Amino acid sequence: NERIDVDYIKGILQPTPTCAIWDEIWNFQAKPDDLLISTYPKAGTTWTQEIVDMIENDGNIEKCKRAPTHLRFPFIEWIVPSIPSGLAQANAMPSPRTLKTHLPIQLLPPSFLEKGCKIIYMARNAKDNLVSYYHFQKMNAALPDPGTWEEYFEDFLEGKVCWGSWHDHVKGWWDAKDKYPILYLFYEDMKKSPKCEIRKIMEFMGKNLDEDALDKIIYHTSFDIMKKNPMANYTSVPGEIMDHSVSPFMRKGSVGDWKSYFTVAQNERFDKDYKKKMMGTTLTFCSSV
Ligand code: A3P
Repeated sequence: NERIDVDYIKGILQPTPTCAIWDEIWNFQAKPDDLLISTYPKAGTTWTQEIVDMIENDGNIEKCKRAPTHLRFPFIEWIVPSIPSGLAQANAMPSPRTLKTHLPIQLLPPSFLEKGCKIIYMARNAKDNLVSYYHFQKMNAALPDPGTWEEYFEDFLEGKVCWGSWHDHVKGWWDAKDKYPILYLFYEDMKKSPKCEIRKIMEFMGKNLDEDALDKIIYHTSFDIMKKNPMANYTSVPGEIMDHSVSPFMRKGSVGDWKSYFTVAQNERFDKDYKKKMMGTTLTFCSSV
């Protein structure tokens, strides 16, 4: 499959179709009732989207099946040939809109913060995030070929991947969370206590669903059920873009999978680098990872 090219926008790698319309993206006009789902790629975006959609629809899965996830929630900076630009979709969407982005906070179109939009940020521990991103780049022609595992490992540490450095991304959004209406969540918490985390999202969205609806949401947003749901598992994306035979989009959905990929030397190098890059932040990830 032919791969997409990448280029830098303010020091952050982006697919070239995004770069081509960067000014339009930067000037995107958010509306006060927009809800934005923000993540570093592979941190649990789709999971969050499905939860949000089910909350919006009071726990009724049938109402969440109007379109596949990637069309239900336009990805404002993402365009791939053959799928309409996320920006165009977002502009055409009726309010209230739920949108998604992978942009680091410094590249977020300013109007989201100016208009006081609610934002849900989902973060995932760096090592699992790296492993998931590596597999995703292998199967997705809308991103560059990741090269070998060893090469990709270095690129990730250097932030030479699309949407930039994981460390800067999670820290940047963490620093913004006390100034703006941002609900900052963790993939590991969602895995451990879905009900508690789903309730947090529900309250943040200003909804009040009963136990029965919450239980339905937990069921339908579990990994095994989402993996089988064609509206959530990305199998409706054209095969020349995503090749699920290389690696399924819904791959493992677990915590600690990095242990099957990192060598001892890589782990030591990663930890040393992590300490340096995360020094001074109050942001911490689940220690049992
Ligand atoms: P893995 O590659 O580790 O399996 P994103 O949606 O941001 O692209 O993230 C995709 C990652 O989230 C994949 O991780 C995918 O399996 C995982 N994921 C998606 N839905 C999930 C769910 N319901 N529960 C747990 N993990 C989920």
